[in-house]
This record gives sequence, C-alpha cells and structure tokens, in this order.
Amino acid sequence: MPTLPSPDADPAVLQVWGGSSLQGHVKISGAKNSALVLITAALLCSEDCRLRNVPSLVDVTRIGQILVSLGVKLKQQDDILNINASTISKSKAPYELVSQLRASFFAIGPLLARLGSACVPLPGGCTIGARPVALHVRGLQLMGADVQIEHGMVNAHVRGNRGRLQGAKIYLDYPSVGATETLMMAATLAQGETIIENAAQEPEVVDLANFCNSMGAKIRGAGTNTIVISGVSRLHSTDYSIIPDRVEAATFLVAGAITYSEISMSPVVPEHLTAAIAKLQDIGVQVVTEGSDCLRVIPSHNLVATDIETLPYPGFPTDMQAQFMALLALSEGNSLVSETVFENRLRHVPELNRMGADIRVKNNHAIIRGVPLLTGAPVVATDLRASAALVLAGLAAQGKTTIQGLHHLDRGYENLEAKFLGLGAKLERVPQSVAIANDAFSPINSDALISS
Ligand code: EPU
Repeated sequence: MPTLPSPDADPAVLQVWGGSSLQGHVKISGAKNSALVLITAALLCSEDCRLRNVPSLVDVTRIGQILVSLGVKLKQQDDILNINASTISKSKAPYELVSQLRASFFAIGPLLARLGSACVPLPGGCTIGARPVALHVRGLQLMGADVQIEHGMVNAHVRGNRGRLQGAKIYLDYPSVGATETLMMAATLAQGETIIENAAQEPEVVDLANFCNSMGAKIRGAGTNTIVISGVSRLHSTDYSIIPDRVEAATFLVAGAITYSEISMSPVVPEHLTAAIAKLQDIGVQVVTEGSDCLRVIPSHNLVATDIETLPYPGFPTDMQAQFMALLALSEGNSLVSETVFENRLRHVPELNRMGADIRVKNNHAIIRGVPLLTGAPVVATDLRASAALVLAGLAAQGKTTIQGLHHLDRGYENLEAKFLGLGAKLERVPQSVAIANDAFSPINSDALISS
C-alpha cells in the first residue's frame, strides 16, 4: 500500500487559473465508497481476494492500514489489491486510524461475523455532520450481539450460538448506506436469514452485494429497499472489479458545463448518474451516451436556475450537491438547494460567496441568485466534495483561485489535477510558502473558519 502523507508544516495549496476551455476525454477511477467497503468486506473471507480498479486515495490507504493492524495481509500492484484475511489476529481496530476515517467503523460487521467479537472506536462526528452509528448498533443487537459502548469504544460480542450471529428482520429508520453495508456484511456469515427493510439502494450497496456473492454469499434484493441475506458458513476466493466512481464522473460533467466545454468520460455506468444528468438538463446542459459506458457533456452558454433536494438514492446525491451549487451560482435566475441528508453540508457557501457568488443559507437551504461571473479568490476546502466544488468554481472564475485544505480533496479524488491538466485546465499544486512568496497570498486561518 502507498504510504500516507505526514502532517505538513507547509501544506500544499492548489492554484487554479480560470477561463480556459477544456477538451478531451477523462478516465474515471474506481468508486471510493465502493472500494472502502469492499476492502472491509474482504475480512469476511478466509481465502485470497483480489480487487481490481482500486483507486489510489488517502482513504483507501487508511482502510488498508486498519486491515493490516488486524493482522490481514495486503499487497498492492497498480490498481489491483490482493487481500488475504485467512488470519485475523486482532478484533480491536486502533483509534488513531478509525478516528480519521468514518467508513472504517463498518469493519464491526465483518469482524463480528468472522470472530464473534469486535471492538471498534466510535468514529465521532465529521465536518459534514454528527453521523451517529445507532442504526448499525441496533441491527447488530437484533442479530444477537451484545453491544456495550464505553469510553468511546463499541465492544460487541456474540455470546450464545457458538459465537455466530443469528439472522434477523431489521427495519432501518433511515436508509443509511453505512448501516445497510455493515449489516449486510454481518449477515453474510450469520446463521439463517436476515431481512433488511428500508435498506439503502445506492450503487455501492449493490457493488458490495455483488462482491460478497462472488465469494459465495447469498444476497438478494440489493438495489431495492429490501435485502435478503441467507447466511453461509464461509466465503471463498474471488477476483472482482470495483464499479466506476459516479461522483467523480458527475464532477467532470459539471466541469464541462461550468467551463462551457465539451468533454467525454469513461468508464461510467450511465444509470448511476440519472439524477445528476436530469438536473444538468434542467440547467440547460445536454449529456449524451456514447456506447454503454461513455458520457459526453454538450455545454450551453444559457445556464438556467433549478432547484435541488438531496435524497437517498435514486434521489439526487448529497455527494454532488456542492459541485452543482458551483454551477448554479453561474446559472441565470434563483435556485434553491436543500440538503436533507447531512445537517452541516453547506459550508462551501461562504467560500463560493468569496468568489462573487450570491448565496444565502437558511437552515439546510441555500438560496442562490445566479451571477454572470465569478472571480478568483483565496478559499478553504471544508470537506471532500466542497473541495471539488471550489476547483470547479476556480476553473470558471476570472483570475486565480488559491484553494487551501487539500487533504480533503486527496481523500476522494484520484489524480484530479492530472486529469484536469489533461483536459487543458490551468492549475498547479504548490507549497503554501511558495504561493505566499509569489503573490502575497495570505492563507486563511481555517481553524477560525471552522469555529465561527
Ligand atoms: N444516520 C443516522 N444514524 C445512523 C447512521 C446514519 O442518523 O446510525 C444518518 C447520518 O447522520 C446522515 C444520514 O443518516 O445524516 C445518511 O448517512 P449514511 O449512513 O447513509 O452515510 P454514510 O454511510 O456515513 C456514505 C458515504 C458518504 C455519503 C453518504 C450518503 C461512504 C464511505 N460514505 O456515508 O460519502 O455522503 O453515504 O450517500 O460510503 C463522500 O463520499 O463525500 C461521502 C461523505
């Protein structure tokens, strides 16, 4: 696995010079949110698992480190990751690693299924919301786990049934992606049948089911709101390729729209992008399918306002909200964006306003009055998708935008700068000290920004 970047006294910033027209084709990487959970699901299998199309991302490296800390063997070559979890020597995931990556909490499901016990730190909140795990815990309890939460640790044990989880009927109060995935993994090796009702229907949930089934699991209904898992006693070796990243693809669709550029991208699964494509059409931008796995964005100079409400799949994804807000900032008329999935995911608004956007926030709504022009400015990325939105705004803006907080970007976009450079964009990552020396750029105190 690649090593993680160490904390940097002179963090990099991204300088983006707006106004260039883009053109060409971009290759879409494997889906981050699939990769994270599929790597975790490899804990269920006591034979070799090979995952292909694994994106090279900080978050993927982190989840790999968590598996290694549990005694799992990993070997990476390019985008292929070989995982051997024949021996899991520990059932306790280390706090330092879990606290940096919320998705690693999902390991509680496979650990409990495989070992009959698991000890995983509560992941804590993150910049976009509190993100509790009550639904995960309640489902595991219904499957027979005794769960204690003490001193920030979730300790789970299966006391009876020879340490094996028992199938159960579980209704989720909310179709949580992570809870659906945790419980699906746990149920894979449980005794008997588990039914998850009001399950998440995201493509990454389907990818997880397909991956587990390729190892001999018996999961039906993934992609609908009812998933039925018939537990099996063990899983076997597999060789599986991760789906393309729909959020990355949507980000490039918006890049074409916001820079009035015709660009194409593959591989994609067009059905995974239905909501995003429909919104682009409302805004006046056409997206055409070329073959089964390629999309081309046909830009328009007449961008018009539209309303967006984020919802669980197949609704409009929260992970694309910030990028679309950058586009709506330049679309004529008034748009309303309502964020219903996370309670604190509009923190990019003041940053877009710093670039000349006209956006007001009321509760979880952003009211956007389209402006004809954005202007480059120093801005701070407040989360992963916000960082992508600022890159997009920077590509469209007049002059130079300098983006701080790139650790967010690096969590979830593989080679974003190289991909944009390949399309003809002008952008460069430089140490903050160089940006300051070159043009009297004054870094924004991002801690002050967070607490205010
Ligand atoms: N929720 C609860 N209780 C729970 C679990 C969730 O109230 O026990 C709430 C959350 O607080 C949130 C809502 O349910 O308000 C949705 O959370 P969900 O559990 O569906 O999200 P997640 O599994 O934590 C995944 C993605 C996110 C993506 C969301 C929604 C991974 C690793 N992360 O998170 O991805 O936004 O689903 O689609 O799969 C990103 O890629 O930028 C990202 C944040």
